[in-house]
Order: sequence, then structure tokens, then C-alpha cells
Amino acid sequence: MVDTSDEWISTRTGIKERRIAREDEAASDLAYEASKKALESANVRAEDLDMILVATITPDMIFPATACILQDRLGAKKAAAFDLEAACSGFLYGLSIGSQFIATGMYDTILVIAAEALSKIVDWQDRSTCVIFADGAGAAVLRPSNGESKIISTYLGADGGGADLVGVPAGGSRLPASLETVKNRQHYMKMKGNELFKRAVKIMVQAIEISLERGKLSPEDIDFFIPHQANIRIINAVVKRIGLSMDKVYINLDRCGNMSAASIAVALDQAIKENRIKRGDRVLFTSFGGGLTWASMVVRF
Ligand code: COA
Repeated sequence: MVDTSDEWISTRTGIKERRIAREDEAASDLAYEASKKALESANVRAEDLDMILVATITPDMIFPATACILQDRLGAKKAAAFDLEAACSGFLYGLSIGSQFIATGMYDTILVIAAEALSKIVDWQDRSTCVIFADGAGAAVLRPSNGESKIISTYLGADGGGADLVGVPAGGSRLPASLETVKNRQHYMKMKGNELFKRAVKIMVQAIEISLERGKLSPEDIDFFIPHQANIRIINAVVKRIGLSMDKVYINLDRCGNMSAASIAVALDQAIKENRIKRGDRVLFTSFGGGLTWASMVVRF
């Protein structure tokens, strides 16, 4: 479709393969599959959920919220439901919000899902984005901790000054859909990859430092690291600057591409299933993405 090569994609990004949703599949369909698995593995019934929070930049539609569509499909009758848009940081923003409701005692059982159908908003004629983004969903059930496992520290950040670096220009209230916007391909994602690359490394390193400091931890205290999966060169540079060893770092970029909010959620599930994370491990998560937004969290698993 575009002038590119396997060699360029794998050396410049680290991506070897990725998953693309079917034509008739939307974000809520991916979210539903992930939610069912998360509920089953947590042994929680959908009826017992107090809140459903979907992190996505590819909602089924502008409104109603994808979380509401999912709530109905799951039969989670008593759950409040809303979407959260923080691009690649959506899952960590979601965990942070959900955990606050639990910490205050207001809610007991919260489902946080990150679901993206990025293939639907990627311009398949734009080689700077169409080789990178992919589809997927991951979900987590949050409940009060009765032991060692807990969120040790969280840091969330944003800089709207970088809002023009990645996004979909049309289809909102600024540039409503028109024949003109369709003709100009303004409903597709635009990205200034090079500029984002430089900021990603710097900001992710700073975010990690702040979350470690808030948890009174040093890099040596971290057992496992799940970074956002945008580019293997970004991950390598961050890991080098923090001084972590690469065998503590989880990579799914090679198999899954960049799934925005879903990248970390899916990686967490894969790492658990591959026995890469043990009970009691201190796991670091860090993300950076559109908005700009970023987040870093340390969890005792
Ligand atoms: N295949 C072949 N060549 C390509 C290409 C592709 N798919 N995409 C871009 N190129 C070309 C460019 O046209 C440019 O050619 P030129 O030198 O002749 O002008 C050259 O490759 C370098 O382009 P550049 O954009 O500088 O590449 P890069 O090394 O920065 O890699 C990204 C591009 C997008 C992979 C990289 O910038 C990136 O990962 N950025 C971060 C993305 C990010 O974090 N996004 C936010 C969170 S999702």
C-alpha cells in the first residue's frame, strides 16, 4: 500500500507483526473479550462491578461512551460507566482513577479496560503511521488489597502544548465532519514521529524518576518494567538512562505493534501468563503519548 520495507519497519521501530481487527469489529468488541477474560480470572461476576472505565482513543462513536455499550453487553447492571481519553497513557490513568475510588471506600470492584481499534483511524496511505499502529485490548479488575499487593506510587502528567504532535484533526466540534474534511483525509491520525521520539525518551525517564522518588525507591528495587510500546529504540534509550537490565523489561512491540492505551494492558497479561512476574515483585509501568500525556506507576504485584 505504501513505499516501505520489512527491513525499515523492523530496524526503525522493532515491529515484526501485529493484530488488526476485522472490518465489523469495534473497540467495544475487543473490550468485551478482554473484560470477560479478566472477570473470569479474577473470579468476579459482571453484576458485582461498581464501575467500568474504558481507556480508548478509538471509541465505537463520539458518544455514547464505549464503556456504556460494554456495560450493557456484560450485564454489569449496577456499574457506573465512562470513557477516558489519555491516548497511550489511558491504562495507567485508568488504574490511577479506579484505585482512588477504592482507596476512598466509595467502590469495591472496578473494571479498567484499555481497548484500541487504531487500524480504523490510521491512514493506510501514510507510511509514517500505518506501519506502526495496531488493535488490541486488555482489562484489569481492581479490588481493595488485603495484603502486600498494592499501587506503591503514581505520577501522571500532561502537556497540551504538544497537542499538535499526534491526533485526528477532524470529526470533533473544532472541525466537524464535512465533505471537505473527508477529502482532505483529516479523519485519519497525523503524527510528527520524530519530534515525539525525542520528547518520549526525556519525559519517560523523568516520569520514572518521579514515581520512584514518590515510592522511596531506586532503580535497583524494580523487579520488572513494562513500558509503553511505541518504538524499541525509545524503550532501549529509556532503559539505558534508568540503568535497568534489559532482562527485566517486557517487550510485546515485536508481536503486537503500538496499541496505544492497550499496549501496557496486553503486555501485563502476557507477562503474567509467561510467568515473568511473581507475587511480591515491584513492577514499574511507564507511558507517553498523545495529548501529550504521560504516566508512571510502581505496583507491588
Ligand atoms: N518506510 C520507509 N521509510 C519511511 C517510513 C516507512 N514506513 N516512514 C518514514 N520513512 C522515512 C521518512 O520519509 C524519512 O525519509 P527522508 O529521510 O528521506 O525524509 C526517513 O524515513 C526518516 O523519517 P523519520 O520520521 O525521521 O523516522 P524516525 O526514525 O523518526 O522513525 C517513527 C519514525 C515514527 C518510527 C519514530 O519517529 C517514532 O517511533 N516516533 C515516536 C512515536 C511516538 O512515540 N508516538 C506517540 C506515542 S504512540
